Amino acid sequence: MARVALVTGGSRGIGEAISKALQAAGYTVAATYAGNDEAAAKFTEETGIKTYKWNVADYDSSVAGIAKVEEDLGPVDVVVANAGITRDAPFHKMTKDQWQQVIDTNLTGVFNTVHPVWPGMRERKFGRVIVISSINGQKGQFAQVNYAATKAGDLGIVKSLAQEGARAGITANAICPGYIATEMVMAVPEKVRESIIGQIPAGRLGEPEEIARCVVFLASEDAGFINGSTISANGAQFFA
Ligand SMILES: NC(=O)c1ccc[n+]([C@@H]2O[C@H](COP(=O)([O-])OP(=O)(O)OC[C@H]3O[C@@H](n4cnc5c(N)ncnc54)[C@H](OP(=O)(O)O)[C@@H]3O)[C@@H](O)[C@H]2O)c1
Repeated sequence: MARVALVTGGSRGIGEAISKALQAAGYTVAATYAGNDEAAAKFTEETGIKTYKWNVADYDSSVAGIAKVEEDLGPVDVVVANAGITRDAPFHKMTKDQWQQVIDTNLTGVFNTVHPVWPGMRERKFGRVIVISSINGQKGQFAQVNYAATKAGDLGIVKSLAQEGARAGITANAICPGYIATEMVMAVPEKVRESIIGQIPAGRLGEPEEIARCVVFLASEDAGFINGSTISANGAQFFA
């Protein structure tokens, strides 16, 4: 039977590419989203991948949502914590709300996504936890104290989970994308985008599929000895 992969924020952007790549690799995929019903419906129509709506920032909704996924598709063996948001502001202007929303979604959201599937992975002696962090969690970024804190936190999560899961056949790894050509990045003014590209030695943005291929590899049986690692995919913009 095909393994089941759960991708949070799997209906758009990088998550969409991850969902499609896992499907192409033979997984039964469940993709979650927060509120953009239109994008989710279009995604399901195009791919046949089932979508589920819940807020990753809410633990009880995550538990209930994951229970529904497992009822529909079977136990989750691969979990990709990809859902994330930005609420940028220079620190002196950052509000408590901007701080808290990003912490709740990007950091607590990873706990809420992985915690409910962890006992099943331990019992079945197999699991793959893949967290989508960011280059800005490695190097920090102007106006992203909140975001960088969460993405650095992701690295602490996978390094700790790796130690706890290793004997149970579970790996936990992070991918740190650099700037990727998603709607979010393509929507910034061309001048700003050009200046971003100017900082990338590769001379281009990354493609969502380039992140998705890293996920497919980390999810595979072949990657069983890679545990607690961070894969940087950033066109040589930063070396951790
Ligand atoms: N794009 C980049 O250059 C870049 C670089 C480094 C790291 N990353 C990281 O990669 C991940 C994906 O980024 P992206 O650019 O692909 O984002 P995106 O295009 O904005 O898509 C975000 C996805 O996450 C979902 N989502 C957001 N908040 C959620 C919540 N509270 N509960 C459940 N789902 C939620 C969205 O659902 P809706 O469709 O319903 O809104 C959407 O499916 C993020 O963790 C981001 O930090 C991105």
